[in-house]
This record gives sequence, C-alpha cells and structure tokens, in this order.
Amino acid sequence: LDNGLALTPPMGWNDWNAFGCNVSEQLVEQTADKIVSSGLAAAGYQYVNIDDCWLTHSRDADGNLVPDPVKFPDGIKGVADYVHSKGLKLGIYETAGTLTCAGYPGSLGHEQQDADSFAAWGVDYLKYDNCNNQGVPDQTRYQAMGDALAKTGRPIVYSLCSWGDDSVASWGGSVGNLWRTTGDISASYSSMLSIFHQNVGLTAGAKPGAWNDPDMLEVGNGMTQTEDRSEFSLWAEMAAPLISGTDLRTASADTLAIYANKDVIAVDQDSLGKQATEVSSAGGLDVLAKPLADGSVAVTLFNENSAPATISTDAAAVGLGSAKAYTLHDLWSKTTTTTKGVISASVPGHGTVMYRVAGTSKPKQYPPQLTLSSVVPQ
Ligand code: GLA
Repeated sequence: LDNGLALTPPMGWNDWNAFGCNVSEQLVEQTADKIVSSGLAAAGYQYVNIDDCWLTHSRDADGNLVPDPVKFPDGIKGVADYVHSKGLKLGIYETAGTLTCAGYPGSLGHEQQDADSFAAWGVDYLKYDNCNNQGVPDQTRYQAMGDALAKTGRPIVYSLCSWGDDSVASWGGSVGNLWRTTGDISASYSSMLSIFHQNVGLTAGAKPGAWNDPDMLEVGNGMTQTEDRSEFSLWAEMAAPLISGTDLRTASADTLAIYANKDVIAVDQDSLGKQATEVSSAGGLDVLAKPLADGSVAVTLFNENSAPATISTDAAAVGLGSAKAYTLHDLWSKTTTTTKGVISASVPGHGTVMYRVAGTSKPKQYPPQLTLSSVVPQ
C-alpha cells in the first residue's frame, strides 16, 4: 500500500502466540521495557502489538469500542502513551466481521468510527482479522477499513490478517502493507515448514510498502534452537515481517540472540525489498536467493529433512556470476570464506546455513610502472 509506511517489513512483537487471550496493559508495557533493555529496539524492533481479547463484549451507548477495564485500566491511549515514551509504536487488533475470532465486537459496518478511535488513542498499526465476515467479499471489507484508516490522517500500518483467501497475494498490496498468506502458525517444526512452503512461491507482490505475511515468529516457543534459527533465516530471506510471538520478558539468552542477529535482520530489512526466489528444492534440500541493494545476494541453504546433508549451488544459479571470486559471509557463524563460484555447506537436519555472497573487488592489478616489460630486461 502506497501510504509511505512499512518500506521495509515491519519488526516487533505480538502477544497472541505466547499468551492467547491473556493480554494486559502490564504485559504490553513490560514487553516494551524488555524490547528496549535487551537491545532489540536498537536492532530494529519497533511495533508492540496487542492481539485479540482486549475489548469488552459490547460497545458503549454511542457505539464506541470499549477496552476491557480490568486488562487495560489506563485504556489503549494509556498504553500507547507508555509505549511511545519508550520510543516504540503500538499496534492493535480488530476483525473485518461482526465479531473478532475470539468473539468480541468486530468492525464490519463500524469501520470509520473504529478507525477514528484507534487514531485518537495513538495506535500505529492495525492487524485486521477475517472471522465472522458474513460472506462479504474480502477485498470489499479490507478496503473499507483501509479507506477509514486513510481518512483519520494518522500513519497506521495496515496488516491484513486475510487467511483463507488464496487470491490475497494478488490484491493485498493495493489494500494493505502486509497480508497473511496462510492459516495460523504453531510452535512446531511441521507447522513452520508447511507455512514456509505456502509462502515461498509468492514472490511477485512483495515490494517496499507491501509484504507477504507468513505469520508470526515462533522463535523461543518450543522448536529446537536449530529450527528457531531456520525460521528466522527463512522469514528474513522471504522479506517477511519479523514479529516475535514469544514472551520476551523471560526469553533465554539464546532466543534473544537469534532475534538480535543483525546480519540476518539486514537481509530482511534490505532496501531493495525483494522476496527470495527458490532456486532449487530437490529432495527437501532448498536453495533460496534474495538480491540485495548493494549487489550481493543472501543465499539460504535449508535442509528440510532430519538427517544432515550437503547442499550445493553456485554463483550463477543465485544470480551472480561475472566476478572471478566471491566472499561467503556466514550470517550465523560470522566466518568468511572465498570461492570461485561453488556455494556449498554441510547443513544439519532442519537447519539452515545462510550466506551473504558478494563478488570480490576486481582482480589485483600491478601499478603501471611495474608492467612485465619494465621489470624484465629486454
Ligand atoms: C486468528 C488469527 C490469529 C489471532 C487469532 C485471535 O486466528 O489468524 O493470528 O489473531 O485470530 O483470535
């Protein structure tokens, strides 16, 4: 969506995966504190997003949405003020239906009134879900809220939680800044793998301001560390939003280190805004290539199987090929090697190796006074 927002994929946190309906002002504010104190804010995480269950079950006499006064004693405005005071931004959740997925009042038919509430409270991001939609076509419902958000005049990132519509990848970018391409992720390798498979081919619509959304990160929620790294690498490679779905307040140092890997984040946030293409995928051994603004290419070798395997490709296959040699910077081990063209690694089961591949500077040249004829007696 050409609203000047989300020129790189949004980064932040959302409570749903780890807490479900147990959302509260305290949780959101403590998480904002941790995002700052852990260094994640400095690494680029910005949006602190409230998911479903923040509302009371009925609107007030004027038809306004009412935040649950027990969960949010200071209202959404109070939380927004707090989050803003930390230099972060606040996200909220609603649904393009009569009720949210958890059964709270939805925004269908109340789009402008609700958008005005969000803007008045200082909301910076809306995740807009798809339950109880009364069979009204998706694009109509999502466009109605998009128009209402635009009318508020407040910059609000618009996230379409448009699961269940296979055509969304073709229209999502004209309506929202990001659009869900799959059903809900859960914290298992098989779920993560299936979501990856559904999202990886949808490369056409991804560009600055418009991103495929394969759902939130389950890093820290129960997969192995190898699998967590794979999710983070693959999501970055696919230019996906990096929205943590874990309890950051209690996350382990290992989990926080994955979220804070600045080299992988730089791939996700690259200004060229291209989603990786799948170069090959024979036998569950995948090669993905994402062109980057500086002319280098992020290459991820992903082993879907449980046994370790060697995965190989070469510079030409990933879109390079004119240099005499290349550096391979490993974005997890931080080692750099050089190659004339072969890109290959032994990859653990369910694991990834992620390289930033760049042509080396031109071949060495002798200074003009040292040409062969000047040093060899004639
Ligand atoms: C849907 C969405 C989830 C979450 C829940 C909340 O399932 O896809 O991401 O927002 O609703 O009820």
